[in-house]
Amino acid sequence: MTGSVPPFAVISGAQVQQALAGHERQITELVEDTYRLHGAGDSVNPPSYFLRFPDRPSARIIALPASIGGKARVDGLKWISSFPENVAAGIPRASAVLILNDHDTGYPFACLESSIISATRTAASAALAADWICASRAGRGQPRPARVGFFGTGLIARYIHTFLAGNGWSFDEIGVHDLSADSAAGFRGYLEKAGPGRITVYEDAEQLIRSSDLVVFATIAGEPHVSELSWFGHNPVVLHVSLRDLAPEILLASTNLVDDVEHCLKASTSPHLAEQLTGGRDFLAGTLDDVMSGRVTVPADRPVVFSPFGLGVLDLAVGKYVYDEVTRSGELHVIDDFFHELRRHG
Ligand SMILES: NC(=O)c1ccc[n+]([C@@H]2O[C@H](COP(=O)([O-])OP(=O)(O)OC[C@H]3O[C@@H](n4cnc5c(N)ncnc54)[C@H](O)[C@@H]3O)[C@@H](O)[C@H]2O)c1
Repeated sequence: MTGSVPPFAVISGAQVQQALAGHERQITELVEDTYRLHGAGDSVNPPSYFLRFPDRPSARIIALPASIGGKARVDGLKWISSFPENVAAGIPRASAVLILNDHDTGYPFACLESSIISATRTAASAALAADWICASRAGRGQPRPARVGFFGTGLIARYIHTFLAGNGWSFDEIGVHDLSADSAAGFRGYLEKAGPGRITVYEDAEQLIRSSDLVVFATIAGEPHVSELSWFGHNPVVLHVSLRDLAPEILLASTNLVDDVEHCLKASTSPHLAEQLTGGRDFLAGTLDDVMSGRVTVPADRPVVFSPFGLGVLDLAVGKYVYDEVTRSGELHVIDDFFHELRRHG
């Protein structure tokens, strides 16, 4: 048998953005399909590995290896850095690459800029969760939220807003809260260009939450800083994307959904703290896939908190989509002779 080694390509952030921008609905459907594949067991998604540094305690680099079946049939690894101090120096906190590996030979066949892929799959997952949770609650008489609040207003908040809008959401009221006045002002500037909705910047976290029926947490908090249950008395839908903002007591009074139970109950996330506090997992209602397939319905008479750990399978699915688009456009940059020592005995 003679095999062939796949060509190795490098895909830039500009190419990634061109392949993804304006395709919010399609990417959200892709993320939905991938959650269903994962829910059905047609994936391998081991725990993420966190590399941390004694000399740079706020920084980390996370490895997310994964494999998916279905149409994509691809393996790979996302390798994503978070260096929060970058923001003060004027460059983004997160940077990443995604390696795609060939299903049959194992050979890596592409390296893609992946901070955009990561933000995209995160935002698509948040918009998908908002859709399904609100559809489930609509069956119980709860109207779709028209007041959204963004708690933490960096890149991820911007992508989530773009994906909500791209999936047909519109808001009468858009609340904004950030510890940094610059971030809040920058995000406000983005929102003003993005479309309608009355924008209010809240200095006070309580006011933001009380004024929002859909709350998006996208801070970089390392431990809970919101613990007042009464702020959630109006039973909002909470997209807890930054995972560590809410005190476990808030989760225990809410309906809790995650993307993957084993993944999410790790690394001192708020659901992990709730598990430690209660000694069990009874506080979890289920996964987003459970909601999508009707195994779990979401009550309207308590807050609902979606805490997505972020699955490598989503990066793979979106990365493969980008690879296929760039290939189709004829713009794939192949690195000639990347794999070179190919004859076993020379
Ligand atoms: N769950 C997932 O799948 C997933 C994926 C990607 C990113 N994330 C998380 O999303 C978060 C946001 O990422 P980003 O790239 O937008 O970061 P960013 O640094 O661009 O923005 C974060 C913002 O949060 C603000 N902030 C920090 N602490 C705050 C607090 N206590 N109250 C209010 N504002 C606060 C900062 O001032 C900053 O403006 C990060 O925690 C990241 O880990 C989660």
